[in-house]
Amino acid sequence: MSGPDLRRAAAARALDLVAPGMRLGLGTGSTAAAFVALLGERVRDGLDILGVPTSEATRAQAEGLGIRLATLDEQPELDLTIDGADEVDDRLRLIKGGGAALLREKIVACASHRMVVIADAAKRVDRLGAFPLPIEVNPFGLAATHRAVERTIVEAGCSGSVRLRVRPDGTPLVTDGGHHILDAHLGAIPDPEVLGAALWAVPGVVEHGLFLGIADAAILAAVQDGQAAITVLGSLA
Ligand code: 5RP
Repeated sequence: MSGPDLRRAAAARALDLVAPGMRLGLGTGSTAAAFVALLGERVRDGLDILGVPTSEATRAQAEGLGIRLATLDEQPELDLTIDGADEVDDRLRLIKGGGAALLREKIVACASHRMVVIADAAKRVDRLGAFPLPIEVNPFGLAATHRAVERTIVEAGCSGSVRLRVRPDGTPLVTDGGHHILDAHLGAIPDPEVLGAALWAVPGVVEHGLFLGIADAAILAAVQDGQAAITVLGSLA
């Protein structure tokens, strides 16, 4: 049983939550892609849903599978968003943005009545912060914003380095929204609410990857006796 098998198992459980006529937020990343692939099979078999993708990558995948899509402007209220996460704690607080889609992911999740996370159980943590926290920033004044983010992190009780995310060719990564990503390598985040609020106050910060009070449930898949075993945090009802 491999990582892709676990991602597919979590995605398959999430598919049970989908009902005909739903307006669905479609997440980004390999686990969300597993969900979109399974959703595409159901659509091919006649399921009628409307999807709102959280990235151009997800849009391309969903379009290729024949999933009917809308923008969030056309459908500003969604029933359910299914998305992956980089870390999830037992209070359903998340770090997201490893795939650089955190801004659209947060907007779509917050426009949804429910957000359900799907992930390999290895993403479950006692304390957030081992995964570098992605912070989406405006390109204007990048160096000044970078310094301000470093100062803010220390003031919020954290320590560690902040690095501009680059593409394989060494140029700064550009998000779907035309922004850059600063990754804060913190090791641990003692108080995510304090850090999240402090980062929002930095001019130039567009959004951060702490999803606090947004997820309603997490479907986590682990290997048990050679099979995928599902654990649910929160309620799927
Ligand atoms: C993209 C995300 C992803 O959901 C997160 O990085 C998890 O990805 P994966 O399912 O590939 O592990 O936040 O911005």
